[in-house]
Amino acid sequence: MIFGLGTDIVEVFRLKDAIKKWGDSFLSKIFTLREIRYSNSRRFSHQHFAARFAAKEAVIKAFGEWRQFPIRWTDIEVLNDKEGKPIIEFHRDALKLKNRKKVSEVVVSMSHSKNYAIANVILLKKGIK
Ligand SMILES: CC(C)(COP(=O)(O)OP(=O)(O)OC[C@H]1O[C@@H](n2cnc3c(N)ncnc32)[C@H](O)[C@@H]1OP(=O)(O)O)[C@@H](O)C(=O)NCCC(=O)NCCS
Repeated sequence: MIFGLGTDIVEVFRLKDAIKKWGDSFLSKIFTLREIRYSNSRRFSHQHFAARFAAKEAVIKAFGEWRQFPIRWTDIEVLNDKEGKPIIEFHRDALKLKNRKKVSEVVVSMSHSKNYAIANVILLKKGIK
């Protein structure tokens, strides 16, 4: 059954500005090393950073009650499988929340263009409905 749905849209220039202004300290606060390596390896890296940012926000929205949980940005990691399809890995407090909510599967889809990046996330739970 569907436990939660989250969506988010990010303006690419905001990520670009933040990276320009705060550099590595911003990047390492928000993104894991694997996310940074992946995005920096792409031609339009800011779009990939923006999409990952949107996906993290979409995960939080899908849970719906994140204020009670001090999740770090890097606890939600956006990776790609060998086909390029995005997957989410949970760490530390985000993993605890996922387990507590008995979420069994997380589905994510992302798209990005010159100006915007969007992500949709669905949290699934075992059960009928
Ligand atoms: C994979 C594909 C759909 C991406 O679409 P796009 O318009 O180039 O780019 P978008 O900005 O919309 O999406 C990019 C995101 O798609 C996601 N993506 C990449 N490969 C994917 C896959 N196999 N499955 C699902 N999502 C995928 C990634 O998250 C990627 O962003 P990231 O690199 O930052 O992680 C596209 O490159 C592709 O291969 N299309 C197939 C075209 C085709 O065969 N058409 C004929 C039949 S209709």
